[in-house]
Amino acid sequence: MISENELADLSYPDAPKFDSSEFPGPKSQALLKEAPEYESMTRGAGEFPLVFDQGKGVTVKDPDGNLYIDVSAGVGVSSVGRSHPEVLTAIELQSKRLMHASDMSNSKRGELAKVISSVAPPGLQDNCITYFAQSGSGALETAIKFSRKVTGRNQILAFHGAYHGVWHASNAITTGDQYRAGYGPFMGGVIHAPYPYAYRFPFPLGEKSCEVVAGEYVEYLLNTPYTAADDVAAVIVEPVQGEGGYVAPAAEFFQLVKSACEKHGALFIADEVQAGAGRTGKMWSIEHAGVKPDMITFGKGMGGDLPMAGVIMRKDLAQQLDAGSQPQTFAANALSAAVCMTNIEIMQKNELIARASELGQETMRALQVAAERLEIIGEVRGRGLMIGIELVASRDTKEPLSGERMEKVVGSLLSRGVIMVPCGRNGNVLRLMPSLTITREYMQKAVDILVSVLEEC
Ligand SMILES: Cc1ncc(COP(=O)(O)O)c(C=O)c1O
Repeated sequence: MISENELADLSYPDAPKFDSSEFPGPKSQALLKEAPEYESMTRGAGEFPLVFDQGKGVTVKDPDGNLYIDVSAGVGVSSVGRSHPEVLTAIELQSKRLMHASDMSNSKRGELAKVISSVAPPGLQDNCITYFAQSGSGALETAIKFSRKVTGRNQILAFHGAYHGVWHASNAITTGDQYRAGYGPFMGGVIHAPYPYAYRFPFPLGEKSCEVVAGEYVEYLLNTPYTAADDVAAVIVEPVQGEGGYVAPAAEFFQLVKSACEKHGALFIADEVQAGAGRTGKMWSIEHAGVKPDMITFGKGMGGDLPMAGVIMRKDLAQQLDAGSQPQTFAANALSAAVCMTNIEIMQKNELIARASELGQETMRALQVAAERLEIIGEVRGRGLMIGIELVASRDTKEPLSGERMEKVVGSLLSRGVIMVPCGRNGNVLRLMPSLTITREYMQKAVDILVSVLEEC
């Protein structure tokens, strides 16, 4: 396994470091003020008060020269850290050879598809075909289209709290008013069921766990005439919910859903866009449940510094699709494909995935100890380096921390040099999702700063 010293060399030393006492600094402030004049603020985190200027490993500089520890990794994207030296070499070599070939064959995408087949989860490993897309939304859009075609069915079952993207079909299965209000109607034929979010499950449980109640409800939905039981093409589920609040249900839920899918002829699709690519301590987060998916979608951390996404599907399903029925101009651009392969190689040879599991457990324990005395923490949860800290105004009532107080927490973290991006149904979950190359020292520093901010807010 890669040593802490080797990992330290991948980032700027001595973060966090501030050259300007004012936050955001004057150059950042000017850029932030100007942005809405020229660019639509419908983009993600449009209001986030930070301007990225340089990045190395898990550290980031803003235009004022302030140096941050980034435990958000570009929202889970920089799996091996920003501008990893081996990625830079791959970019240099490949950019001199070939970058774009439209959606036609290029030697790198062919190689990448083989590598993906070898690292796919059980059920798909060495038995899959990859479709390449350019973003998570595109991957989900495609998975929906393909699942309808191969099953001859229409409906899609997804979950409360789900985030699967913002295109037409992917937005239809994504939940949350901020992405939907006023933009409809979206694609029809979507059913949403409760996700087993133990901290805020909407129904009484009795003797059963929320995983069992939610899993049994999916079986009911797939088998009742009120939801056109024979018409559900696929159940699409995040094995760890990302934007929905870093919720990591126990294996039983996924096992129940998978067996209901098998029984009633629906496909089981795991959306691994945020939780995949080694982040949770396994290459794919569905592996924790021991369930064999029919398809998985990937994005974010697979590409790292360059966009790369797609759908990995069972070979027999892929063979039912018509050639040329889903073209995309920028899919598996040769440069992105070369970088994706380099990312996978870096993760494998440095054993970063096993390390993510170890470091994740250590960090969760430290946060759980802090939670014992910090009333503002409602729950610490997660898997590997995908850790959620749900903040509440009251532990007794579980009232979510208000937007105003969350802003104060995020702002205080930034002004002390830690980048954390909130998520969750109420925007009250802080998430730790650093690059897998974060040193223990930087993780410890980030946690210490977080704890001191929470003590004050
Ligand atoms: C689970 C999941 N699926 C799909 C997407 C959409 O990905 P993209 O933003 O690349 O379109 C996201 C983005 O956050 C995601 O977390």
